Amino acid sequence: MPEDVLSCKKKPVPDGTEKLYVSYETVHKLVKKLAGQMHQSGFDPDVIVAIGSGGFIPARIMKTFISKPIYAVGISYYGVGSQHADHPSKIQWIDEMRQSLAGKKILLIDEVDDTRATLAYCVRELLKYNPEEIAVFILHNKLKKKDDEFPPEIKRYYPAQEVGDVWIRYPWDALDIDEHNRLEALQSSKE
Ligand code: G4P
Ligand code: MG
Repeated sequence: MPEDVLSCKKKPVPDGTEKLYVSYETVHKLVKKLAGQMHQSGFDPDVIVAIGSGGFIPARIMKTFISKPIYAVGISYYGVGSQHADHPSKIQWIDEMRQSLAGKKILLIDEVDDTRATLAYCVRELLKYNPEEIAVFILHNKLKKKDDEFPPEIKRYYPAQEVGDVWIRYPWDALDIDEHNRLEALQSSKE
């Protein structure tokens, strides 16, 4: 079956874009490393908010290390047929979160900080619930010009890894996980 029949990734990847393969093991280790750094920095969140779908698996792994409840939200910037919407929008949001998040320290988790549009939008929406603080955790920050910025309330930003403007292949998008892991190992052996 052609790859794009099964793939759910809506954002088009330009031809020739460099790819970075990341395995589940690497994701787990990145989350563990960051959980330790966050602890050392003195940040002890009350709740995790995971941005779906890329933030779900990193958030669940983080729960292993910090044992806090997870709320899940869905934000989308890419519509049907790879069309880029004008702005991110909520595709799933839980209004009951308002009470649960007021006065709380939130750890917001997503897999990647790319244009920052989705993340910054989500932060602004969550700030409306008057949390004590929001810290942003992502596996990868792409060092590139961003389309949006975080509001000044964001004082803690935890990228597990900084990368260039590459296309990251996450394990949950792999149609053949063995081949995916092989490609990660191959790329590591070249470093
Ligand atoms: P940002 O605020 O996190 O920077 O997100 P942005 O709106 O720029 O990203 C739009 C979508 O593109 C997001 O997916 C994001 O996860 C995805 N994306 C950006 N760069 C990469 C990459 O290098 N690799 C992969 N695999 N995805 C990338 P989304 O609409 O939230 O979908 P989902 O995959 O999280 O469900
Ligand atoms: Mg995402």
